[in-house]
Amino acid sequence: MNWNELGLKIAKEIEKDVMPYFGKKEGAKIVGYSPSGDTTELVDRISEDNVLKHLKPLNVNIVSEETGTIDNNSEWTVVIDPIDGSFNFTTGFPCFGFCFAVFKDNNPYYGLTYEFLTKNTYEAFAGKGAFLNGEKIKVKEYNEKEAVISYYSRKNLNLIGKVRRVRIMGAFGIEMAYVARGALDGIFDIRPYVRTTDIASSYIICKEAGAIITDENGDEFKFKFDLNATDRYNIIVANDEKLLNMILEEIK
Ligand code: IPD
Ligand code: CA
Repeated sequence: MNWNELGLKIAKEIEKDVMPYFGKKEGAKIVGYSPSGDTTELVDRISEDNVLKHLKPLNVNIVSEETGTIDNNSEWTVVIDPIDGSFNFTTGFPCFGFCFAVFKDNNPYYGLTYEFLTKNTYEAFAGKGAFLNGEKIKVKEYNEKEAVISYYSRKNLNLIGKVRRVRIMGAFGIEMAYVARGALDGIFDIRPYVRTTDIASSYIICKEAGAIITDENGDEFKFKFDLNATDRYNIIVANDEKLLNMILEEIK
């Protein structure tokens, strides 16, 4: 299976279906609830229906934000968030995209994160480097005075004075891709709130771009054994050990 071709084809189809709703209230109409308890809005449903139309005939396992898990006892598991940043999408804030990750026997195999507005395609096959629109990408070299980070925490943290800029965009998977390309130095969520569907594709891309990915204790980040749409994670993604240590110090 050409996972990269399939991922991009689905991304482009979803883009065509949902972009007419960008920034419009009709797209936010609640049509159900996801397995993790979040509301499913009309645009989530439209995009997920498209994903399922392509993936169901393949008889692979599917983990998708709105539907949850479809277990076909396959060695392949495809993890998707059809729209990461749904709230941004419906309110007209231009940061959202499509996250598509493929695991083989529960090991990362391929990740694609696609931004509809910029048409930026971030992708990586495990072990083969990370790419943005076909060009190789690497995390940014860390310089404390120039660092830009994003973070999600229920604690009152005081990171604004410790880095040059803080940017919280509301689409975790997309923001992780920004770390991979060097637009952000790091990002973390310690609520814990993000699910496998939000982070899987960009996790593979960030790893290939050289990011360090840990849990809230600084231990290597691991997906729980059964990939599912409900587990919530603490995750820290950083371009450098020094940044990771600074974050760990702040959150403890
Ligand atoms: C959300 C975004 C957001 C993050 C939430 C996610 P969704 O994804 O990634 O940045 O803070 O945890 O649920 O619901 O728009 O796909
Ligand atoms: Ca979503």
